[in-house]
This record gives sequence, C-alpha cells and structure tokens, in this order.
Amino acid sequence: MSDLAIRVRETEAILARIVRDFTPAVFASSLAAEDMVLTDLILRAKLPIGIFSLETGRLHRETLAVLDAVKAHYGYDIALFRPQTEAVDAYVAQNGLNAFYDSVEMRRECCRIRKVEPLGRALLGNQAWITGQRRAQSSTRSDLRVEEDDPAHFITKFNPLADWSEENVWEYLRANGVPYNALHDRGYPSIGCEPCTRAIQPGEDVRAGRWWWENPESKECGLHVVDGKLIRIKSVAA
Ligand code: ADX
Ligand code: SF4
Repeated sequence: MSDLAIRVRETEAILARIVRDFTPAVFASSLAAEDMVLTDLILRAKLPIGIFSLETGRLHRETLAVLDAVKAHYGYDIALFRPQTEAVDAYVAQNGLNAFYDSVEMRRECCRIRKVEPLGRALLGNQAWITGQRRAQSSTRSDLRVEEDDPAHFITKFNPLADWSEENVWEYLRANGVPYNALHDRGYPSIGCEPCTRAIQPGEDVRAGRWWWENPESKECGLHVVDGKLIRIKSVAA
C-alpha cells in the first residue's frame, strides 16, 4: 500500500471514530489545501460532520472563491461565522485598520476579534472539533497529536492530518480532482488573512509568509493557543 493510501485509511478511521463517539462534531476549514483534503473525505463519504469557515472580513478573494468551488463541486454550503461588527468597528476606530503590524499584542487582539471569538460560537453545542493542522507545518506544531483536549472550549479536538506530509496533501488533491485555492499555485503554501499572508521564496519555511514580520514562535492566531501557550494536554494516538 502506498504511503498516501495508508494516510487516507488512517484518516478515514479517525473520522469514523469521531462520528461514532463524538457526534455532533464540526470541522473548521480555512479553505486551504489541507482543509480541502478533509472536506473531500467528509463530503464524499457523506459523514454527518458540519463544515464551517471563519470569515474574518480580511480574506483574499481567491479564498472566498473556494466557497463557490465547494458549492459547485459537492453541492455543499460551508457555514460562515463572522466577527461581531461592534468589536471590529471599535478596534478599527481605536487602532486603525491595520494595527496588527504594530505589535504582537495588537495582532493577537485582531485575531481574537476576527477569529477566536467567532470560533467559540461555531463550536457551541459540539462534542469535538476537527482541524487540518499538520505536524510538519511549523516548529509550533512539532508535537501535534491526532487527539487532544481543548481546554479553551471544553471539547475534544482532532487533527486527523497530523501525520500527513505536504506531498501527501497534494498527491491526494490531484488524484481526486479536489478544487483548491488558486493562491497555492502562486507561492502561497499557507493562507490566512490577506494583509497577514504573503508568498514565500523557494526554500523558505511553509509558514514563512504568515505574519512574516513576527518571530516563528508567536505565529499562531489564537485558534490553537490559550494565554499565549500551545495547548497540547492529552496525547492519545488514534
Ligand atoms: S492558523 O494559525 O491560522 O490557525 P493555519 O492557517 O495553518 O493556521 O490553519 C490551521 C487550521 O486552523 C486549519 O486547518 C483550520 O482547521 C483552522 N483554521 C484556520 N483558519 C481558519 C478559518 N479562517 N476558518 C476556519 N478554520 C480555520
Ligand atoms: Fe487580523 Fe491578520 Fe489575524 Fe486576520 S490574520 S484576524 S487580519 S491579525
């Protein structure tokens, strides 16, 4: 069996276990390549796992176009969670539209308003949530487990692609004709909000284009950290 076939089989088993033991569960999609692998596995198998995206109001139009591509390809509407207008307006009025370039604190506050607070709403009522994080993506994810407790939301969190390589992801997408964000073909291996993401040069780290003005250690948006620390409490292999 090929390396990819093994990865797929393991991931399908993890998703089946989530459906069996953690329903209702939801999948958080950033609409980037990894998340399209999970989208394809969930929608083609018609698994009862809802898919949502945090529409921060600062996404690239190419990223938003993936929503339409998913609708056209699978007939599925990804649910969108948006930040509270008053919180965004207050931040912008007080600090300016692009204050996240000024300091890590300002950046985290923008991520808190545009991503972390809406994530809390998206996870309400669920027993587990699923992400497309991979261990090989960055130094901050090197100890990523498939299953962990998420003490910020008091539910279980699954990272079914933890063991996948970037090659696995692209081999899967191509072999299955899965639609993907056009920015990936323009030097963007990792895609977040438009003002906080740039293309990388050959040989650079895959997340080098995310919050490129910050140190690698601070490059997490708050979806996967609590109080500035990575939360990796429970380590149960699937
Ligand atoms: S992060 O630092 O922005 O979280 P990354 O873009 O690598 O990093 O995303 C990792 C995972 O977080 C994604 O696979 C997805 O599960 C979740 N995620 C990130 N951004 C979003 C988003 N805008 N909407 C929903 N989920 C997201
Ligand atoms: Fe704000 Fe940038 Fe975080 Fe998006 S990635 S929420 S624009 S700081």
